[in-house]
Amino acid sequence: MTTQTTEHQGPQESRVFAPSAEFAAQATVSGMDAYKALWTEASQDYEGFWARLARENLDWKVPFTRTLNEDDAPFYKWFEDGKLNVSYNCLDRNLENGNGGKTAIIFEADDGAVTNVTYKELHEKVCKFANGLKSRGIKKGDRVIIYMSMSVEGVAAMQACARIGATHSVVFGGFSAKSLQERIIDAGAVAVITADEQQRGGKRLPLKSIVDEALAMGGCDTIKDVIVYKRTGGDVAHVAGRDIWLHELVEGQSAECEPEWVEAEHPLFILYTSGSTGTPKGVQHSSGGYLLWAALTMKWTFDIKPSDVYWCTADIGWVTGHSYIAYGPTAVGATQIIFEGIPTFPNAGRFWETVAKHKVSIFYTAPTAIRSLIKAADVDPKVHPKNYDLSSLRLLGTVGEPINPEAWMWYYKNVGGEKCPIVDTFWQTETGGHMITPLPGATPMVPGSCTLPLPGIMTAIVDEAGHDVPNGQGGILVVKRPWPSMIRTIWNNPERFKSSYFPEELGGKYYLAGDGAIRNKDTGYFTITGRIDDVLNVSGHRMGTMEIESALVANPLVAEAAVVGKPDETTGESICAFVVLKQARPTGEEAKRLALELRNWVAKEIGPIAKPKEIRFGDNLPKTRSGKIMRRLLRVLAKGETITQDVSTLENPAILEQLKEAS
Ligand code: WT7
Repeated sequence: MTTQTTEHQGPQESRVFAPSAEFAAQATVSGMDAYKALWTEASQDYEGFWARLARENLDWKVPFTRTLNEDDAPFYKWFEDGKLNVSYNCLDRNLENGNGGKTAIIFEADDGAVTNVTYKELHEKVCKFANGLKSRGIKKGDRVIIYMSMSVEGVAAMQACARIGATHSVVFGGFSAKSLQERIIDAGAVAVITADEQQRGGKRLPLKSIVDEALAMGGCDTIKDVIVYKRTGGDVAHVAGRDIWLHELVEGQSAECEPEWVEAEHPLFILYTSGSTGTPKGVQHSSGGYLLWAALTMKWTFDIKPSDVYWCTADIGWVTGHSYIAYGPTAVGATQIIFEGIPTFPNAGRFWETVAKHKVSIFYTAPTAIRSLIKAADVDPKVHPKNYDLSSLRLLGTVGEPINPEAWMWYYKNVGGEKCPIVDTFWQTETGGHMITPLPGATPMVPGSCTLPLPGIMTAIVDEAGHDVPNGQGGILVVKRPWPSMIRTIWNNPERFKSSYFPEELGGKYYLAGDGAIRNKDTGYFTITGRIDDVLNVSGHRMGTMEIESALVANPLVAEAAVVGKPDETTGESICAFVVLKQARPTGEEAKRLALELRNWVAKEIGPIAKPKEIRFGDNLPKTRSGKIMRRLLRVLAKGETITQDVSTLENPAILEQLKEAS
């Protein structure tokens, strides 16, 4: 574990924006006293606090009597003797509350076509889907891969799995056949749910043919069914006995499906995410604890009210799309937008146009999207938010990466009209839901800071020996106590779960987030200073440098590769690869051609999101005498900065000159 955070002094940001009295007056958590009162409750009786919230926010078929079981730490169990069904809590509950006729989903298609789905209709869709899955023999405990674009059917597929107790694993539609195959094998999945094609940015992109390719790669014998949602009507192959259209699967199925009542700890889903080493990790989440936090943070962080029109622009392939599209909003009976398209189609005003069109009141997106739309509005003033009626907005949010204060200010002024609080939500695939974030009706906001932990979330900053560091001093972000929505294990790899998240160096008891952080001396506010491991964050997408290196060296031309992150104005970080070929170091046109070839190779191996932005060729890589690649030097070179560090341990200092510039 290495931290570069101590040299980071944290931002010198002095602007403070208190929530308006008007917002605070109507907020679920109103004012800092209310926030503190929740903290007092959590501190005085940690288990009692969570038990109360779990009883108040979820419907239990069998009430739990034991709140937290720490016997087998760090394999914590929450509400373990309780039974519930996630889909029941997200759907049936709304019907019983008299909200069956309420719009659950406003589907905004790529071409602007709109479909409204009420809770009653969604319930019916999910029940038929669930019965269809059952008719194929899919049952509780089975794993089902969902490889779909943004659609009502994608959410229905997740809910249908939840309804029958099958554990889903959604694979982002931008991942390659090989990535899909690896996940199918690791999960031991019995079925894949996909679409013929996806429609994005005016283009049709393949899905089903990638599934076919993945299955043809071998090792996927556990897969018995491929269920295909017809989205575009594009031509796709059909394997008799294995493939079935979704509309045929649900035809004639009953619109009622008794939920499978599962234990609170039953795995709701596995979601693969990158670590610093090895293959992606299957992050396993629970049913009870996970849903509690997805629902509760909708109320606390997003202050959701019955009249809100909520829009989270994430994809269901990421955790944000799980907690804040598929589960959180439905669990609280919200009306939400599901957007199929991209922010720049038909032009970069699409987000603002869509907010105006549907009178969106809560808008949640990634800093990278904001930064690219700032740029677009600079180039083409017609797509500037001021040209759209955004008066329906009352709350804004960001997620996935640090937001720089300038982007925050732009968002605050031009999108929020200086009246909407911004919740900068820090969390991770592993945390299941928000961890550190302002509460919109309570916390005074400071641009670039995610401010304070939610009540009950015991975050702290420690040094490499696990000791607390004082405010104003950077360190390692940890969570000192288990919380209900935390990762339960890494699928198939409990040892890796322990060593990755509960390292012995920190005493084996603290959850290690993998980020560096610093707290402000006066306010105690947290600022995330970035990953302390070899994980990159490109446009809010998480990627391991090792994964990209492995993909590169799998190419027959490549002898060796090292990948580092390089700060990027729009995407936060970009991928810079240093490559040694088996042949002589290419230059000029030859280097350009080979770089392109390797970029496409990585897209094929992992997915287009993992394509290095820059590839530099060298005769070798900077190494110590013991043969270790000196990545910190590569990071400096990638930035185009001069190396001031000590290079005396370097075996081949001459190589630095060669790697200075893009080939
Ligand atoms: C990593 C987790 C959060 C769900 C989507 C990404 C970074 C996330 C923030 C934020 C600064 C942030 C961290 C974290 N991150 N939110 N508000 N401020 N950094 O989930 O793919 O698991 O990535 O994203 O580095 O560890 P993920």
